[in-house]
Amino acid sequence: MCASGRPITLLLCCLFISATSSPVSVYTPAPPLPLQISPPSPSARILPSPPSSPLSVSEVGCPLTLTPSFLVVRFGDPVTANCSLSRAGFIGVGWVVSLAAPEFTMDCFLVWRVERMTEWSMKPVCYAMSDEGGQCQRNLPLTVYKPPESVSISFVNHTGPMSEGQQFTLQCEVRKVAPVGNLRVTFYRGQTALGHTQSSINTDEKPVSEVFTLNITSTKEDDGVQFWCEAKLELGADGPQPPPVVGSEKLTAAVLFGPQLMCPTKLRVREGESLSCETRGNPPPSVTWFRDGEVVALPTNSSREHAGNYTVTAKSLLGQTRFTVEVEVLPGKGTTNSYNGHFLLAVLLIWTINWS
Ligand SMILES: *[C@@H]1O[C@H](CO)[C@@H](O)[C@H](O)[C@H]1NC(C)=O
Ligand SMILES: *[C@@H]1O[C@H](CO)[C@@H](O)[C@H](O)[C@H]1NC(C)=O
Ligand SMILES: *[C@@H]1O[C@H](CO)[C@@H](O)[C@H](O)[C@H]1NC(C)=O
Ligand SMILES: *[C@@H]1O[C@H](CO)[C@@H](O)[C@H](O)[C@H]1NC(C)=O
Ligand SMILES: *[C@@H]1O[C@H](CO)[C@@H](O)[C@H](O)[C@H]1NC(C)=O
Repeated sequence: MCASGRPITLLLCCLFISATSSPVSVYTPAPPLPLQISPPSPSARILPSPPSSPLSVSEVGCPLTLTPSFLVVRFGDPVTANCSLSRAGFIGVGWVVSLAAPEFTMDCFLVWRVERMTEWSMKPVCYAMSDEGGQCQRNLPLTVYKPPESVSISFVNHTGPMSEGQQFTLQCEVRKVAPVGNLRVTFYRGQTALGHTQSSINTDEKPVSEVFTLNITSTKEDDGVQFWCEAKLELGADGPQPPPVVGSEKLTAAVLFGPQLMCPTKLRVREGESLSCETRGNPPPSVTWFRDGEVVALPTNSSREHAGNYTVTAKSLLGQTRFTVEVEVLPGKGTTNSYNGHFLLAVLLIWTINWS
């Protein structure tokens, strides 16, 4: 509004603003008395007080406006802030700032401009000098951020596969991030968030590295699962959108378990299909089928004579399990799609065993 293009002096400009858009109701007379409260009685009548004298600087606050009123800036990026004076009675505006401080001006605004933000903890202040020698100021809240340089995940003091039920600690190391107080670290198991953690250091403005941990008890379902973590800088609605996020690499867990054998007591197959039972375990168990005490090679193309009782064993380093299954061979073409439920289940297995 100051630089409206009209050929007027800066001082006039400031006075003009003062007369038209002063936000302070300095000269407002006292409101008229509500007559209905008391009957008009000359003796009880309170006279309106005379208009008070213009308030001093400290009472009305500082007529400085900062645009923007606060800043969130990435380290190394440019910064611009405009400090403008909206009332007469002041002779000029200045900035107190450690980087690229502009010179005090008699103008009614002063822009602070930095090509590259290269400081972490800066407290810029804009001030105005009054005619009477006093001054007032406004602080410009400034957050300088830097997304993490790297994020990595590891197991604490652990290598190799884990045992079932063992407690382990995941560690997420976030390197050189600022401000760490705005960091939110999330651990993931596959696509499932396991929990959030925040920094215990809250005051650091300079980049710091921090390690976040999460304790987990291993289950057999964790075998083959990928763990990872993500570091997000939450800088609020005025920060960058979307917020800077850095994810770690994925860490595949190995949990020793088994051997497990999932077999129905009665296994129905159609002629032409092969016999199978689901096994699970890490390391993968080896499976053997017995018929009448003899090891048998499983038919890939079963026929009626394969019906009967079998013993199945699954064996790994961790132990052995056995199961007795009665096989029934149903008539039908080998190409049929109407497998029974158990066979379908077996087809869906991740842990299939090749016993050829
Ligand atoms: C700073 O603000 C003043 C007052 O709102 C305006 O007149 C001026 O053009 C602004 N300057 C810049 C560089 O934005
Ligand atoms: C990891 O092992 C080292 C040395 O063996 C030990 O100093 C450290 O305390 C251990 N850390 C944890 C979290 O158990
Ligand atoms: C995680 O486990 C370690 C030792 O394994 C223990 O010192 C620490 O207190 C545990 N942390 C939590 C949050 O339970
Ligand atoms: C399966 O065996 C049947 C008879 O026992 C035979 O007709 C069929 O061709 C065989 N199929 C395959 C794929 O070997
Ligand atoms: C399999 O075992 C069951 C129960 O032990 C028995 O009833 C059935 O007759 C046996 N089947 C064959 C084909 O031996």
